[in-house]
Amino acid sequence: MAENLVAHQMVIDRSQRSAIKQQRPAVLWFTGLSGAGKSTIANALEQALVEHHRHTYLLDGDNMRLGLCRDLGFSDDDRTENIRRIAEVAKLFVDAGLIVVTAFISPFQRDRALAREVIGDAFFVEVYISTPLPECESRDPKGLYKKARSGALKNFTGIDSLYEPPVNPDICIDTLEDDVPNAVAKIMQYLVGRIEP
Ligand code: ADX
Repeated sequence: MAENLVAHQMVIDRSQRSAIKQQRPAVLWFTGLSGAGKSTIANALEQALVEHHRHTYLLDGDNMRLGLCRDLGFSDDDRTENIRRIAEVAKLFVDAGLIVVTAFISPFQRDRALAREVIGDAFFVEVYISTPLPECESRDPKGLYKKARSGALKNFTGIDSLYEPPVNPDICIDTLEDDVPNAVAKIMQYLVGRIEP
């Protein structure tokens, strides 16, 4: 299919788009179990970035699955395709000069490695939102663990679908140790020297 396609060189490039925003683009790729706190910390982080006059975008699992990825379910193959699409979208946003925060379970190591490859190692920051399964299950903000335990929901991450924790994440947030402001402060600290022009 791709044999008759030739990438078109754009006149304006990433460096010009980011220069006008006075920043360097990056992707903060959150991974963790459902209920680990990804969306909560991602939202608080984006708020902090905007307060620092950064140009941002937040890509969130539930939202993307209502639009671009509405045709996908939760089989292993569908999750892989979900993450592939998000990686491609994040790559475009990096090209636009933005600081992107993504909040997807992204349970498989190989899919996160592919995302890093698509987006580019220089821009990709893997953030592991580490919360033990029993804690996620006791929080159960959407009631989905209860459903999964009762058998009403199949292929639920941590119950009957695999989650592979990152081996060597760039940032690890242990939500039993760090509350949301601390988590945000840690990530903001990591970004010092990385997002300035
Ligand atoms: S991923 O595995 O493909 O990365 P994603 O982050 O997009 O998942 O979506 C996860 C969200 O979908 C969860 O926060 C939860 O609200 C909802 N969800 C519905 N069914 C499932 C399921 N079987 N496993 C995990 N999450 C599910």
